Amino acid sequence: MAGSNPVPWSADQHTKAKHAVYAQYLDKWMPIMVNGWGADITYAEGFAGPGVYLDGSAGSPVIAVKALVGNKAIRTKVRNGGIRFVFIDRDQRCIDLLPMEIAKATAPVPLDGLSAHGVHVTVEKGDCEPDLQRVLTRERAWGRPILAVLDTWGGAISFDLVQRVAENPGSEVIITMQPQYFSRFASVDSIEHGDRVFGGSSWREVAGQPPEKKDRWLLQRYRQTIQQAGFQYVLDFELIDKRGQSLFLVFGTTHERGLTKMKEAMWEVDDIAGVGYRDPRDPNQEALAIEIEPNTAPLKRLIVDHLRALPGNQATVNHLRKFALRSTVYKESQAASVVREMVGEGQLTRTGGGLHRSRLSSTDVVALPT
Ligand SMILES: C[S@@+](CC[C@H](N)C(=O)[O-])C[C@H]1O[C@@H](n2cnc3c(N)ncnc32)[C@H](O)[C@@H]1O
Repeated sequence: MAGSNPVPWSADQHTKAKHAVYAQYLDKWMPIMVNGWGADITYAEGFAGPGVYLDGSAGSPVIAVKALVGNKAIRTKVRNGGIRFVFIDRDQRCIDLLPMEIAKATAPVPLDGLSAHGVHVTVEKGDCEPDLQRVLTRERAWGRPILAVLDTWGGAISFDLVQRVAENPGSEVIITMQPQYFSRFASVDSIEHGDRVFGGSSWREVAGQPPEKKDRWLLQRYRQTIQQAGFQYVLDFELIDKRGQSLFLVFGTTHERGLTKMKEAMWEVDDIAGVGYRDPRDPNQEALAIEIEPNTAPLKRLIVDHLRALPGNQATVNHLRKFALRSTVYKESQAASVVREMVGEGQLTRTGGGLHRSRLSSTDVVALPT
């Protein structure tokens, strides 16, 4: 279905930041998976877009293909059978443009010559649901890792689709949407739709939340939904511009290493003018500039809140590192330096001994001052 919007369209700052995160992550994911699974893997998009923006910059499908063909060390390792790229979009104009954009990225090898190199690209018009699952079945993608990128404009992703990907070995999902998308659920009038997205009816408890808390409550509930679908590790954060407009990104993986790599990707991207991150869990909702040494004030607050909820208000440094990795937008290494800083500033006290009293080791115990 062709809409009234132009194709291609211009990339806003969120989109550029999102692409920078994708590019960094794919540069890590692709070699790990090509080496680990003999390239018997699938990169799939259910909302692919045309592969290009008005300013000529690449769309996410092209970024993904380039992560393979632009890396000499791994593109030659793609074996017979090889890697699958599956792209679905419901807009025929996207489906017309995308193959040409992919072909530019793979030149001099033409699109129809890629199979001979073990690279199988499918571009198909359809609705993400049910067509993505159908095409993945036809392409024999199930049973080996799939990275499913579902870049909606606020369309629904059903719990069932997320669960199907989570149950597939070594698979991961990236879902993006505007946080306002959740507002539609706040009034609890779109019952059937909400039940499909959240995989049950417990999200309807949003009705009992104070109005100013409904949106945050739904974001938090969505994070739990992705976990219930089977992704043990979930990273979610907002990309926020100067006007306060944001894009919500949720990443689900069954491997801690995936989470570590996505965190590295997040903090390694070059600064994109005017766009920062925001941790939906931060009670102060502070925007963070994208930089290698980020502002860690929200992490300090989250560590204090976390310790308040623990018996004795204490934990090992290692526990706090894992807390940061699994429950905040920060990396483990950032948590380690923050804990050191907090001990130095007297915000935390050190209760564990240890031989090297001047250094804080991962087994040392720190606590909130009494
Ligand atoms: C946010 S854009 C995709 C951007 C692209 N992934 C990128 O980052 O370059 C969303 C795309 O989803 C398509 N779309 C919207 N609803 C869809 C649906 N239910 N199934 C498949 N495609 C859909 C639109 O035509 C549009 O191209």
